[in-house]
Amino acid sequence: MLSSSCTAAVRGLSTTAQLSKINNVTIIGAGLMGSGIAQVSANAKLNVTVVDSNQSALEKAQKGIASSLQRVAKKKHADDSAAQSALVSSVLDRIKMSTNVSDSVKDADLVIEAIVENIDIKRKLFAEVEAAAKPTTLITTNTSSLRLADIGLNLKDKTRFGGLHFFNPVPMMKLLEVVRHDDTSDATFEQLIEYGKTVGKTTVACKDTPGFIVNRLLVPYMFEALRMYERGDASMPDIDVAMKLGAGYPMGPFELSDYVGLDTCKFIMDGWHKQYPDEVAFKPSPLLDSLVDAGKTGRKSGEGFYKYK
Ligand code: CAA
Ligand code: NAD
Repeated sequence: MLSSSCTAAVRGLSTTAQLSKINNVTIIGAGLMGSGIAQVSANAKLNVTVVDSNQSALEKAQKGIASSLQRVAKKKHADDSAAQSALVSSVLDRIKMSTNVSDSVKDADLVIEAIVENIDIKRKLFAEVEAAAKPTTLITTNTSSLRLADIGLNLKDKTRFGGLHFFNPVPMMKLLEVVRHDDTSDATFEQLIEYGKTVGKTTVACKDTPGFIVNRLLVPYMFEALRMYERGDASMPDIDVAMKLGAGYPMGPFELSDYVGLDTCKFIMDGWHKQYPDEVAFKPSPLLDSLVDAGKTGRKSGEGFYKYK
């Protein structure tokens, strides 16, 4: 008789065979995250298509990827500018850009959604993706906070649906949370772990719980810093310096919130607050709300808690 781990392995192998090997990856959303995911996927020699509803977001992503690659290339080939250019162009050559979702997913082995953190917009997109993609395509979300069971509610085949939660900046952050919900098949989950390894990330397995592992700890911490400032207990720069020098964090909570995007921070907390109104750790912040209302979304808009050039 097979042990339970052997049985799982055999079951996993037999279903994995029905799914295609991942060669073609389509990333939907060309913002902070989509562009980073495109870069690491193309760097791993996968064929990448990036889709965005906004043409100027695609142009900005193209420039952002080129400049990030330049930084990577400078480190890898310090005194060899020809090798630097070759690295940058070989990765860029593997990335196509498009504004058409249906056309861009039809040959995809893996689709990664990285659009705005809004459940209705994501659900609408997934209906379009499933209708146009192959019956073997793995469909995933990079959501920071939404439950996969809710995002994927209307998918006809939920077995090929899972979560790939990357961290910002994607080329630098080594972690990938691979998320499964109740209906994700073993074969899908194993292929997502494999994809994570292909793009050079260390993977951790997550259940479909709010914020998975990292954000369930990190986002309440960022909001606790805001509440500390709102009470007048300390200044923003002092809180940032304290957490960098006293706790060894690379960025303080306000610097990090600006880096993530204040709109994204707000969408995460508003969603959790709606779902768990009595949870004090999920209380929204009036200051954050007012900044987002004023279009001050952090580094990406040039101003958030701090101003950027
Ligand atoms: N692309 C390529 N290389 C990059 C890069 C990018 N986008 N950003 C930074 N780098 C490289 C630089 O080239 C530099 O390399 P060298 O030191 O070898 O020259 C190195 O990273 C350090 O960069 P900087 O000197 O510019 O700045 P830094 O030392 O402050 O590092 C950082 C930048 C890596 C972003 C660091 O500050 C950091 O780790 N910050 C915390 C980030 C974090 O916590 N991210 C998670 C956010 S939460 C999330 O993502 C989940 C969610 O759902 C909201
Ligand atoms: P962003 O605002 O930088 O980019 C979102 C992009 O999606 C924009 O370019 C927008 O034009 C595009 N978009 C919106 N609706 C679309 C649609 N229907 N079809 C095609 N494109 C559409 O956002 P981001 O920071 O890259 O976040 C994207 C996702 O990744 C969110 O779910 C967010 O929660 C998650 N996430 C963010 C971070 C972070 O630090 N910012 C980290 C991990 C995960």
